Amino acid sequence: MTFREQLTEKVKRAFADCGYDEKFGMVTVSNRPDLCQYQCNGALAAAKTYKKKPMDIANEIANVLQAQDIFSSVQACPPGFLNLCVTDEALTAFVRNMGTQPQYGFERQPQKTIMIDYGGANVAKSLHVGHLRSAIIGETLKRILRYCGHTVIGDVHLGDWGLQMGIVICGIIEQFGLENLQTEADRAKHITISVLEKTYPAKSKEAKENETVMAECKRLTLELQKGEGIYFDIWKKVLEVSVADLKRNYGRLGVTFDLWKGESDTRDVTDPMIQQLEDKGLAYLDDGALVMDVTKETDNPPLPPFILRKTDGAVLYSTTDLATILIREKEYDPDLILYVVDNRQSTHFKQLFRAVEKAGMATEKLNLMFAGFGTMNGADGKPYKTREGGVMRLEDLLNTLEQEAFKKVEAAITSSEITEEEMQKIAHKVGIGALKFADLSNHRSKDYVFDIEKFCSFEGKTGPYIQYSGVRIASILNKVQDLKGEILPPEGDIQRELFLFLTEFPYAVQQSAADFAPNTLAEYVYALAVLLNRYYHEYKVIAEPDLEKKLSRIETLRLASGLLEQLLDLLGIEIPERM
Ligand code: ARG
Repeated sequence: MTFREQLTEKVKRAFADCGYDEKFGMVTVSNRPDLCQYQCNGALAAAKTYKKKPMDIANEIANVLQAQDIFSSVQACPPGFLNLCVTDEALTAFVRNMGTQPQYGFERQPQKTIMIDYGGANVAKSLHVGHLRSAIIGETLKRILRYCGHTVIGDVHLGDWGLQMGIVICGIIEQFGLENLQTEADRAKHITISVLEKTYPAKSKEAKENETVMAECKRLTLELQKGEGIYFDIWKKVLEVSVADLKRNYGRLGVTFDLWKGESDTRDVTDPMIQQLEDKGLAYLDDGALVMDVTKETDNPPLPPFILRKTDGAVLYSTTDLATILIREKEYDPDLILYVVDNRQSTHFKQLFRAVEKAGMATEKLNLMFAGFGTMNGADGKPYKTREGGVMRLEDLLNTLEQEAFKKVEAAITSSEITEEEMQKIAHKVGIGALKFADLSNHRSKDYVFDIEKFCSFEGKTGPYIQYSGVRIASILNKVQDLKGEILPPEGDIQRELFLFLTEFPYAVQQSAADFAPNTLAEYVYALAVLLNRYYHEYKVIAEPDLEKKLSRIETLRLASGLLEQLLDLLGIEIPERM
């Protein structure tokens, strides 16, 4: 039970003892911290139900609660609020106990199987900043939901089966000749990551400008989708080389996946699935393409039909997404599939979910949820681009961030004992931390502006500010490693505020999990860092002569910074060794 739940229990009991429904006993954090720590507004609502004056009920409840030793003061205030403060002893006992429990006493309750579809990289195309947000938000949601006790399976869902593959295969054959791609050794020799990086952009530009080239790319896509033969073999190599590179890039971001499945994994499922939809009379030919109506009368504007096969017979993004749901159901039987994808794909997902509904494809318990995110914009308010106006590759963006972080870290660390290599490592953590915090502290559905200077600053609401707080506290704690003691009741207001705030962390985690939006947790972590900063500036540790006090301060810092580190980990942010 959280501290606040314990208070709620008591207040509910008081309502019940006075003959009212206990549901009126909900306790919240006070919105007037100058007056009290907690409040209960239930008397106001109860007054309506029981046709009494709110103040009379509030007074009755206050009388009962005053006798309980968890409360230091209980006041009924007009028009019928209950203002509550707790004793330092009760608060301290709770906080002390937090430190002895797994996950600081966070209660893991639900046991759902949740699949998160995030990352969404496309094979043989570079990762770009659009994939960045999916990776950052999806990874964090995975960690948060696991922390809550769910079984979470992260799937990268590679884009590896559509037209872009035909384009890449076409470009490769053109460069090396089909005759030089016949054996595994040949393919290994020619199909390298640097070749892939150049092939897609060049060939796709050409295909857009030249119909004959486009027709060839489409033909190759269709050949590939037969699932065997030389084109399939070329594709397999492309996939292998590309995935190795993707793993490196995601690794750099601290993002990992349980499954490296992709659109192509539906290749044995799409045909029978389409057949079934046709048999049910749900799919029909429209201008040569096979489509399915998914709109309802209530849709305004109507949803466009969902395309299952293009005129040339090839399956596409929509088909593979639909078939993927079948596979996921069969193999993992999830309660929820969460799609962490760009908001600009929201219509696609509306169509997809509707198609599932119409076809009666999902099990009773399966929920499908689109957790869309906004765009990372440049200073001009448009999606972030390179200086030349092209799409910024993820790798370049991360390099830029780490360089900026390096400058900042170099300026902050005066000691000459640090090697260039150590500095790089720190700059890496700081750069990634800066980016992740900036991203996650906004609600996922909002756009935000990429401002490297601001993100990397050691001051203000930034990742580096929080990391720096963590580093400072760790360095204090390092000096007193062997000293162990007990947390005493708060020495003053700041510490009391810190204790109260510590007890609230489960709500931040739960809220983020419930909304699939990590910003609530990011806000909490930042506020915790601010409080911790205030605390250790006010109360010296090393220099404190009174041993009991000193030990209590050490344990307070240990607890709070341990929690800070654990919550930062949920956001995928690491605290560097020094800063
Ligand atoms: N590969 C897609 C893209 O780059 C994202 C995939 C998202 N996931 C999904 N199941 N559709 O736009």
